[in-house]
Amino acid sequence: MPDTFRILGIPGSLRAGSYNRAALEAARELAPTGVSVDIYTLDDIPIYHGDHEQPLPEPVVRFKQAIREADALLFATPEYNYSIPGMLKNAIDWATRPSGDNAFAGKAAAIMGASPSLLGTARAQYHLRQVFVYLDVHAINKPEVMIGQAAQRFDANNRLTDEKTRALIAQMLTSLVDFARTLKR
Ligand code: FNR
Repeated sequence: MPDTFRILGIPGSLRAGSYNRAALEAARELAPTGVSVDIYTLDDIPIYHGDHEQPLPEPVVRFKQAIREADALLFATPEYNYSIPGMLKNAIDWATRPSGDNAFAGKAAAIMGASPSLLGTARAQYHLRQVFVYLDVHAINKPEVMIGQAAQRFDANNRLTDEKTRALIAQMLTSLVDFARTLKR
């Protein structure tokens, strides 16, 4: 039996009612056969401190290991003040330290995001793409999954009910898996 293709889902929100976490839950449901989506919550990652790199804090060691063990990454980012939330950037920064030990190097990734506003995290997603350049993360370009007006697309239990968005996420997962496999070859 072929090995499961493992996607690490990274939500940029800690909120219990987070739309972005809920989008990752939808991705987990929609993953094709042979593909898993594990959600990695960043709630135990400390604030980055340059004097605390040796040794790295245990939660950071675990996060870096989870990144390295994944076949691909799926970020679900909110948009805060037109960028990615500080806690997400903070976790990303830790995972690139110490210098020369960047856990992200060479990884394939996809980005999605959900927001109550119309633009559905477009600006934050482009900021994240810029950060990926230094991380040496290779992000798929299409489909773009920008979930605007989120309150209308998730139900009272925070399940993604919008069929078009569900189809887009399914398509994104397939693209991500294909791209990651090509990159590996
Ligand atoms: C926001 N929000 C927001 N939304 C947006 O579309 N563009 C933005 O620039 C911002 N800026 C912003 C700043 C800060 C500090 C907060 C707390 C919020 C609203 C944001 O999209 C909304 O809170 C989402 O629900 C956050 O995502 P989760 O937690 O639902 O995943």
